[in-house]
Amino acid sequence: MHLISISDMRREEIHKLLDLAARMKERRGQHTDVLKGMSLAMIFEKPSTRTRVSFEVAMTELGGHALYLNYADLQLGRSETICDTASVLSRYVHAIMARVYSHETVRELARCADIPVINALSDMEHPCQLLADMLTIRERKGDLEGLRIAWIGDGNNVCNSLILGSAITGMNLSVACPAGYEPDARVVARANELGSDVLITDDPIEAASGADVLYTDVWVSMGDEKEEEKRLRDFSGFQINSDLLSHAKSDCIVLHCLPAHRGQEISAEVLDGEHSVVLDQAENRLHAQKALLMTVIPRRCDG
Ligand code: CP
Ligand code: NVA
Repeated sequence: MHLISISDMRREEIHKLLDLAARMKERRGQHTDVLKGMSLAMIFEKPSTRTRVSFEVAMTELGGHALYLNYADLQLGRSETICDTASVLSRYVHAIMARVYSHETVRELARCADIPVINALSDMEHPCQLLADMLTIRERKGDLEGLRIAWIGDGNNVCNSLILGSAITGMNLSVACPAGYEPDARVVARANELGSDVLITDDPIEAASGADVLYTDVWVSMGDEKEEEKRLRDFSGFQINSDLLSHAKSDCIVLHCLPAHRGQEISAEVLDGEHSVVLDQAENRLHAQKALLMTVIPRRCDG
């Protein structure tokens, strides 16, 4: 099984994985040899703190090994094809995860690999982030179905995965973004096919009103740096701050996938305040990915 889009998983598969993640979190340190002798290749075209460290620690805690492979240091950076790279890595390791600019790169890896491929963020999606987010929401709210969730800001990769993840698990999502920064129309169409009715608005208050969960991400994603000046202008007014929070439910939780820019997409007061669960969310990357690795990597039968 590959995880390229969060929509590669069905509702029951997501909940089963989250159940496993919750058990692994509770009993951290007790699954020390389930991936003994297994290796994960981690290809990075972009920087990372959480994804890199949580995957590497996940493999270590499960008894396996992770290899950090900077794109520029691989022959990929000297024009070896993605397909040849995937085929060769398939002879050495048991799974590949890749953080890439173009979504097509991770799809091509999956097409050519004989082993599971995990999207660790592309320009289109961030499915591993969504697994951790859903684990965090479940911990705080008990279930996902029927919750009101509001995304404030850029209709980016994380937002796309949230749209699909919400559609699959039955969360009611509203997205507030400035004109021109709406989520990918194909993603919204796919979510509609899955039965969701995501509201897209340019009014943050409309989106946040009565929300159980507020979620935001940076205004300038990796790869968008050339547009920084324009984006900072265009996104003004799309900040999660105390005023916006006052429109949500009184027990609303605030998510941010991190890294955050205090004073831009979120105020310091809210990011560091009592509604924020961002550190649990970051920690849950580890537990959700341990469950993911156990789910996708076929275990060897000895003998
Ligand atoms: N949220 C997330 O993917 O963080 P990193 O970019 O640090 O991996
Ligand atoms: N949307 C951000 C997420 C970082 C984890 C980016 O792609 O840079």
